[in-house]
Amino acid sequence: MKGKSMRILSGIQPSGVLHIGNYFGMMRPAIALQAEGEAFYFIADYHALTSVRDPKALRENIRRVALDFLACGLDPERAALFRQSDVPQVTELAWILSTIAPMGLLERSHSYKDKLARGMPPSVGLFSYPVLMAADILIYDSDVVPVGKDQKQHIEITRDLVVKINETFGQSEPDGQIFKLPEPRIQAATEVVPGIDGQKMSKSYGNNIDIFGDEKEMRKRVMSIVTDSTPVEAPKDASRSTIFQLYSLVASKSEIAGMRERFQKGGTGYGNFKKELFEKLWEYFTPMRERREEILADKSYIDNVLARGAKRANEIADQVMTRVRKRVGLR
Ligand code: ADP
Ligand code: TRP
Repeated sequence: MKGKSMRILSGIQPSGVLHIGNYFGMMRPAIALQAEGEAFYFIADYHALTSVRDPKALRENIRRVALDFLACGLDPERAALFRQSDVPQVTELAWILSTIAPMGLLERSHSYKDKLARGMPPSVGLFSYPVLMAADILIYDSDVVPVGKDQKQHIEITRDLVVKINETFGQSEPDGQIFKLPEPRIQAATEVVPGIDGQKMSKSYGNNIDIFGDEKEMRKRVMSIVTDSTPVEAPKDASRSTIFQLYSLVASKSEIAGMRERFQKGGTGYGNFKKELFEKLWEYFTPMRERREEILADKSYIDNVLARGAKRANEIADQVMTRVRKRVGLR
């Protein structure tokens, strides 16, 4: 991107404890991008209301997501970290977008269909979830959105809505557009981090390994990774093993090559590989665990970061909403 700095945006729902799928799929890429432009990362508490019904739990989760994200390396000097609900204008933009969003587009949402299949009641909020997400992205004129693969369709819906709103209201603009098209940024190597059952890791599938679980818990989760029944002495297929895939995320190149070789050779049981994986995982997150303790020791740190982030986010959102209200005829 020439001239203007690239604007990067992503969000994460405070609907539970963050796991290593969230870390490698979204948080690590987002943290890496904070040095490359102007970054906005938020805690999607409005979105979490579609599934969390316990106000106390929601409040606690919001702080915990902020804490964990900061502990993992989000630098509040570079990236604005804020609560989605501290920018309530986003719900106004979501309403405006909903008036042009075709029902059929939202009816095709995989995420909506999956949620219904898991027994969630089909509320209007759950249905229009992608419209609020589009508003999140567009209200900061975002260029790039780092997410895991499961969010790709949501970004495509956002892009469809951009085309539609530009067609409907963009004619009076010099370049014919109210919004530019945002791009998803999905890391191929970590687009789907597997959980302990080999399916996509997700808090809703109960197959997660949490980033900041205690030692006993993390070891237990790793030791319960599901494996096939290949005997100890037989060669094993590394590329199809969850243990190996997770190990590849945290070990060095030579360690990864070493484990691959021992899979192929046979003679090592899955139990041993799991122990090695646990050791590496624990080691990988140790500096972040330490940083997390430091942040916790400073009682006002998180509130200050969130307040500063909200201020910055509101500045941009106000500018964009002034433009949008004018274009659609509200002011
Ligand atoms: P969950 O599925 O546990 O509810 P979220 O939907 O809250 O997770 O995801 C938050 C972010 O983390 C999204 O960008 C999502 O794509 C990413 N993410 C979640 N699980 C994984 C995974 N197993 N692999 C890669 N990315 C993931
Ligand atoms: N739907 C995303 C998730 O569950 C969270 C989210 C909300 C988001 N708004 C966003 C992500 C805008 C990227 C951009 O993970």
